Amino acid sequence: MTDTNKTATLTLDGKTYELPVLSPTEGPDVIDIRKLYGQANVFTYDPGFTSTASCDSSITYIDGEEGILLHRGYPIGDLAGKSHYLEVCYLLLYGALPSAAELEDFETRVTRHTMVHEQMHRFFTGFRRDAHPMAIMTGVVGAMSAFYHDSTDISDPWQREVASIRMIAKMPTIAAMAYKYTIGQPFVYPRNDLDYASNFLRMCFAVPAEEYQVDPILSRAMDRIFTLHADHEQNASTSTVRLASSSGANPFACIAAGIACLWGPAHGGANQACLEMLREIGTVDKIPEYIARAKDKNDPFRLMGFGHRVYKNFDPRAKVMKESADEVLELLGVENNPTLQVAKELERQALDDDYFVSKKLFPNVDFYSGIILEAMGFPTAMFTPIFALSRTVGWISQWKEMIEDPQMKIGRPRQLYTGASERPYVDVENR
Ligand code: SDX
Repeated sequence: MTDTNKTATLTLDGKTYELPVLSPTEGPDVIDIRKLYGQANVFTYDPGFTSTASCDSSITYIDGEEGILLHRGYPIGDLAGKSHYLEVCYLLLYGALPSAAELEDFETRVTRHTMVHEQMHRFFTGFRRDAHPMAIMTGVVGAMSAFYHDSTDISDPWQREVASIRMIAKMPTIAAMAYKYTIGQPFVYPRNDLDYASNFLRMCFAVPAEEYQVDPILSRAMDRIFTLHADHEQNASTSTVRLASSSGANPFACIAAGIACLWGPAHGGANQACLEMLREIGTVDKIPEYIARAKDKNDPFRLMGFGHRVYKNFDPRAKVMKESADEVLELLGVENNPTLQVAKELERQALDDDYFVSKKLFPNVDFYSGIILEAMGFPTAMFTPIFALSRTVGWISQWKEMIEDPQMKIGRPRQLYTGASERPYVDVENR
């Protein structure tokens, strides 16, 4: 971020204020309004933060018009095609691609932290078996500060590093345990001889009764899904983690807050909602009816998996995800999956419809991920836990960047008050 010699002039009630303009490496300039309230006694007003930069960050850059997504400058297409999730984790956390030795050390540290405290197994038994895995993950991750108290002091760089590695390493184990618990199968311990994605698939699908062989194409597709969901600038759940962390709360509690926010159907819950919508549509002849509903202002129905606050062209992750969907479904011999047929025809019809084109509503990352995950054998309830598992590195990287920022202060937005002005209390007998 560089101070420009540019300023924005605001004239209000006959007074003029010069506001500094800051220039980023990429993207639009920002008007620095930090002193506005002190100078002009006014707030800015931006519900949903559609035009507001909440922080400066060097982790991820998104260009919604051009469909660009960079992690530390590297395009998501390159990373999804040439890198792998743990290398992307290193890049997001430390800002540079690792050397071979650095990567090996990082992968070893993560691998050796994949087990959870044995006492945590009993924590799961407090949930009903039909609990949503996201409810379990929110509770268990929040409880981690009770089990890993030795990495909760955020002022200690070493404890911050340990908490980061623990979060990235243990989320697949916790997500897999949440899944196993809800289907009544025993927990499967992680294995140190498996890569990250293969370990997760085995913890989800292995049973003690027989050996489980991970299909390398499925683990590659799983790893790619992790990579495509790793970070996404200041989205709702990341902003939640930043705001929670700004009070000095411990990292586990802040990540639990991020998981809770991600669960919403307008955000990470969209992959589950999208697949349920595709199933409800059922056959391609029903698509026009649902498109009409999505366009009807009196109908709250929206096409899940379409639209994005930032991408007003296409979501570059959806492009890669679509390629993966074709590969995985062909491998599994389900390329004629009726849900996929509906998805492809729905995409074709929506992108041919002026309502969606004029409002720039295109398939987002959630549109195809659910189809791949279903084909891999995951129930829809596990789609958002997998998104949360993938996004943990993004939340942790953004948390780390904020905690290490000397300018960090507690987040405390103001409001446009529309309530009653001061009035005297009236005793109940006189009301
Ligand atoms: C994720 O922020 C991130 O980066 C998120 C994410 C990440 O990686 O963290 O990318 C992950 O959350 C992806 C988005 C997943 N959500 C969905 O797929 C749910 C369906 N999408 C919509 O809920 C919506 O598109 C949002 C929430 C994603 C974006 O909403 P915006 O930008 O606030 O847009 P809006 O609600 O103001 O809608 C603009 C117009 C409205 O019509 P008008 O009032 O102008 O007439 O577009 C319409 C909306 O009614 N619209 C839709 C629509 N999305 C918006 N109409 C039909 N179907 C849709 N999906």
